[in-house]
Amino acid sequence: MALVEAIPGTESGLQHLRAEERSRILVVDDEAVICDILRDFLEFEGFWVRTANGGEQALDAFASESFDVVLTDLKMPGVDGLGLLKRIGELERDAATVIMTGFGTVETAIEAMKQGAFDYILKPFKPEDVVRVLRRALEKQRLERENFALRETVGFYELSEALSSSMTLDEQLKMVVELVRDSFGADGVGIITEEPKTPGRYLPRISCGNAGVTARVDRLIEAFLAGGQVLASGEDVTSWVDNVVTAERSVASFMAAPLKIRGATFGLLTAFSTRRGFRFTEGQRKGLTIFGGRAATAIENARIYQNLQDTFTQTIEGFARALEAKDPYTHGHSDRVSMYARLIASAMELPPAEVTRIAHGGYLHDIGKIGIRSNDLNKPQKLSPEEYTMFKSHPVQGKRIIEPIAFLSHLVPSVLYHHEAWDGSGYPEGLAGTEIPFEARILAVADSYDAMTSNRPYRKALPHDIALVEFKRCAGRQFDPEVVKAFLKSIDNHRRQRRAQGLPVPD
Ligand SMILES: [Fe+2]
Repeated sequence: MALVEAIPGTESGLQHLRAEERSRILVVDDEAVICDILRDFLEFEGFWVRTANGGEQALDAFASESFDVVLTDLKMPGVDGLGLLKRIGELERDAATVIMTGFGTVETAIEAMKQGAFDYILKPFKPEDVVRVLRRALEKQRLERENFALRETVGFYELSEALSSSMTLDEQLKMVVELVRDSFGADGVGIITEEPKTPGRYLPRISCGNAGVTARVDRLIEAFLAGGQVLASGEDVTSWVDNVVTAERSVASFMAAPLKIRGATFGLLTAFSTRRGFRFTEGQRKGLTIFGGRAATAIENARIYQNLQDTFTQTIEGFARALEAKDPYTHGHSDRVSMYARLIASAMELPPAEVTRIAHGGYLHDIGKIGIRSNDLNKPQKLSPEEYTMFKSHPVQGKRIIEPIAFLSHLVPSVLYHHEAWDGSGYPEGLAGTEIPFEARILAVADSYDAMTSNRPYRKALPHDIALVEFKRCAGRQFDPEVVKAFLKSIDNHRRQRRAQGLPVPD
């Protein structure tokens, strides 16, 4: 009895497909003639075919390649059809298995189906029967893969939700890269972004396991701009990656997703695998796109936040400049008070956001003087009681100016209370000790040090050493002793650093 019936002359419309696009069939039979006939026929039908003359050889092929369907004889020496089925299951490959069997072993074939084989074909068979079974197996597999891809995608979405906006940008991007690596079995993952100040220039932002593998950024961006998707395996990888093969490894599969904000592409998320025969799936590519979306949002949010911060700092520096423009004696005073306040706050080991807030308070602390005629105050003689009252109103004036401005209102305590004294003798409210907001206690020291060491209309600048003696004397009276301690601890080093940079310091 012939093992394979005559091959009818059929025309196939699938032969134009490239190797990567064809379904991959592994034919396993210890009879070489069956392998040869099936290969010829299936290739003619547009399949990509590899043959193996036994279970061991089939498993060798599996080690380096992946297949969509395995068409295997049941009875073979060594690893037989059932054994092969079992090993494929252990490898967690999603290849569908079709058993070829003679009439006497139908029961074993049914047993094979119970173990997960898709179907069996009785020998002798017509080649078109084989094709029919293969097509059904491929269709079922396609549906299963789609289903799996959908579940994967939902899973990736949930994973990406784990990214918290309370994390820093670097933490978020590191998490994206690690989630992609772990979820997709990638060996290398990278994020590449366009330099905001040099459009068209892309630099690696963060990566893991990427050594020596360089994505062809220009081509990828071009593909994404044209609305394309990037998922490549085998030889196609060379279109997207330089140095695909090196002595250490060979890139087997590559995928990339664009980083986009409001439709504009400004970067890439890339992943590759060096596992031989490995292919990223369409579901994983979609998952990568979800992660790319999260990374893009995180980067954009960080940029917006930084812009806001910059605008904020520029605004309050602008206020300080406006104040100093009308009073030559206070030129640079706000900058220096801000600098000393930052020095003290850092020495007190306050959180960075607090240090910044206190430094901003330094810029704005005297903003209330903007409404006071400086000619009246900048005179060598003592101020009259009325003038002194007017001068003392500047903290309250300052509060009135900034309180209605929502993004400055958190600086009100600095502005309103920087002339309060630790012993309660200050103004405007005569608060004492810890009743005085701590930022105002810090500003009091910073402000007084700069006032003492600068020239004023009514007196010359005091030397630095004398100012320090004064602070020691007034700690616990005018000033918070802890703040004075932090100032004394840090000022000498600060002066050394300024001198080393060629910057001025009080004598
Ligand atoms: Fe003041």
